[in-house]
Amino acid sequence: MRLLFVNMKIAFVGKGGSGKTTLSSLFIRHLAAAGAAVVAIDADINQHLGAALGLDDAQAAALPAMGERLSLIKDYLRGSNPRISSAATMIKTTPPGEGSRLVGVREPNPVYDACARPVELDGGAVRLMVTGPFTDADLGVACYHSKTGAVELFLNHLVDTRDEYVVVDMTAGSDSFASGLFTRFDITFLVAEPTRKGVSVYRQYKEYASDFGVVLKVVGNKVQGQDDIDFLRAEVGEDLLLTVGQSDWVRSMEKGRPPRFELLEDANRRALRLLRVAADATYELRDWERYTRQMVHFHLRNAEAWGNERTGADLAAQVDPAFVLGEGVAAPV
Ligand SMILES: Nc1ncnc2c1ncn2[C@@H]1O[C@H](COP(=O)(O)OP(=O)(O)OP(=O)(O)O)[C@@H](O)[C@H]1O
Ligand SMILES: [Mg+2]
Repeated sequence: MRLLFVNMKIAFVGKGGSGKTTLSSLFIRHLAAAGAAVVAIDADINQHLGAALGLDDAQAAALPAMGERLSLIKDYLRGSNPRISSAATMIKTTPPGEGSRLVGVREPNPVYDACARPVELDGGAVRLMVTGPFTDADLGVACYHSKTGAVELFLNHLVDTRDEYVVVDMTAGSDSFASGLFTRFDITFLVAEPTRKGVSVYRQYKEYASDFGVVLKVVGNKVQGQDDIDFLRAEVGEDLLLTVGQSDWVRSMEKGRPPRFELLEDANRRALRLLRVAADATYELRDWERYTRQMVHFHLRNAEAWGNERTGADLAAQVDPAFVLGEGVAAPV
C-alpha cells in the first residue's frame, strides 16, 4: 500500500550509460502524472535529463546552470545567518543555521527564479534544475569548483513537505562521496545493467553508503531474460528491487517522437509504481537529526581537507550546534 502524502528525496545513480537519465525521467513523468509536486535535478556528468523530459536542443541549451549561479544561491541561502559572514566563505557543505533561508519544493524563491525552469509533462509541470556541464576541473579533486556543490547546498537547505518529490539524476562518481551528497536522499536507486561493471559500481556505492544509513536499491535495466535477472539476483541479492527491459516507448522518445506517457508499456508502468512504493516506504526511516548531523560531519571533513585553507577562515565555526533542520524549523520564505 502506498502511503499518502509523503515527501521524498530520491537519487538515481549508476554507471555511465546504465539508464540513470532514462529511468529518472520516466519516474518524474510518473510522479507528475499522479499530481505530485516535483523538483527534478540533473546532476549527471552528461546533461540529458532535459532532453529525456522532452525539451528540444534549443530549450535544453537555454537551461540556466546552477553551477554558474553559485554566488546567488549562497547569498540567498545564508540569509542573515551570523555564522556565515559572506558567500565567499560558504562552501558546498556549509550547513544552515539560525538565520539561514530554507527552501521548499513548491514556493517561488530567487533560487528557482534563477535556476529552475518549468517543464510541461502529461499531468502537470515539474521544476527542472541542471548543474550545467562538467568540465575537467569538476572531475578531479577540485572540490571548490564542484558543480554538484550547488545541489548539495540546495538539498541541505530544503525542507520538503507532503506529496513533494525531489528527483536527482546523478553520477556515482567520487565527487558525491567526497562531499555528503550521497547521504542526502531517502532512497537511492542504483541503475545497473546485468554486467560485471554495472554490479561493481553497486559494490563501491554500497561500501561508501553502509556507514551512513543510506537506503540503496538496485534497479536492473536493459534486462533481456531470466538469465539476466538471475545474474543480478546472485550479485546483489536482496538489494535487487526490480528489473526493466528494453522499452519501445523509450526508443520512440529517443527519436524525438515521445508517445503520450499513458502509452508506456504495462510492465514499465508497474516498475514505476513499484519504485514509488519503495521510495514512499522509506519515509518512516526519515530522521532530521541524523540528516543534520551528517551534513555537519561532511562539512567538518571538507573544512579540514581544503575549505579552511581555501577560504582562510575557520569553517567549523559555521556550524550552529543547536540547529536541526526539519519540517518544524521554519516556514520556507
Ligand atoms: N529500458 C530502456 N529501454 C530502451 N532504451 C533504454 C533503456 N534504458 C536506457 N536506454 C537507452 O540507453 C541509452 C543510455 O541511457 P541513459 O542516457 O538513460 O543512461 P545514463 O546512465 O543516464 O547515461 P550517462 O552516463 O551517459 O548519463 C539511451 O540511449 C537510452 O535511451
Ligand atoms: Mg545520464
